[in-house]
Amino acid sequence: MTIHVDAAEPALPSMDNGAFRSIMRTMVNGVTVITTSHEGHMHGMTATAFSSVSADPPTVLIVLNRSTRTHPLVSASRHFVVHLLSEDQIELGNRFAGKLDDQFDGISYTINEHGIPVIDGVVATLECETVNELSVGTHTIFIGRVLRGSRSQTMPLVYHDGSYKAVAGR
Ligand SMILES: Cc1cc2nc3c(=O)[nH]c(=O)nc-3n(C[C@H](O)[C@H](O)[C@H](O)COP(=O)(O)O)c2cc1C
Repeated sequence: MTIHVDAAEPALPSMDNGAFRSIMRTMVNGVTVITTSHEGHMHGMTATAFSSVSADPPTVLIVLNRSTRTHPLVSASRHFVVHLLSEDQIELGNRFAGKLDDQFDGISYTINEHGIPVIDGVVATLECETVNELSVGTHTIFIGRVLRGSRSQTMPLVYHDGSYKAVAGR
C-alpha cells in the first residue's frame, strides 16, 4: 500500500529549512548501507534515516530521497537489506554515499534469496520485505517486515553534526 501525504499543505506554516537542518545535525545516528536489487541490477546507498518500528512483528523503516538511484529499485523490488556499519567502515559509508557505477567491486558479499547483496563484516544486517510506503515531501518512508537478521559484537559507526564518529565510553 502506498500512502501520499501532501507536504505542501498550504494551511500549515513550517520553520526555516536551514534551522531545521541545523537542529537535525544534533542527532546521533547509526550509519547504514541499504542494498537492493531489481531485475538483476544490484545497488546500494548510505542512509542514516533508519529506525526500529515494532518488535512484534519485527518491523523497521528507512527514508529515501526520491532523487536517489536506489529509490526506484527499492520501490520496484519491494525487498531491501539494512547493514549497520562498524566503526572501521567509514570507507564503505563514503563509497555508498557516492555515485560509483561499480559499487560492489572489491567488496565481500553473498546474495540472498531475493537476489540482494548482503555485505560481509558489518555490525548487523536486517533483510526486509516492504509492507508499506509513505511519500512525504521529497522522500519516501519504506516500512519493512524483517525476514532475517544477523549481528556481531563489533562497535557501530555513528554520524553526528556532519561527520563520522566512534561510540565513546565503552
Ligand atoms: C552519512 C550519510 C547519511 C545519509 N543518509 C541518507 C538517508 O537517510 N536517506 C537518503 O535519501 N540519503 C541519505 N544520504 C545520501 C545518499 O547516500 C546519497 O544521496 C547517495 O549518493 C545516493 O546514492 P544513489 O543515488 O546511488 O542511490 C546520506 C549520506 C550520508 C553521507
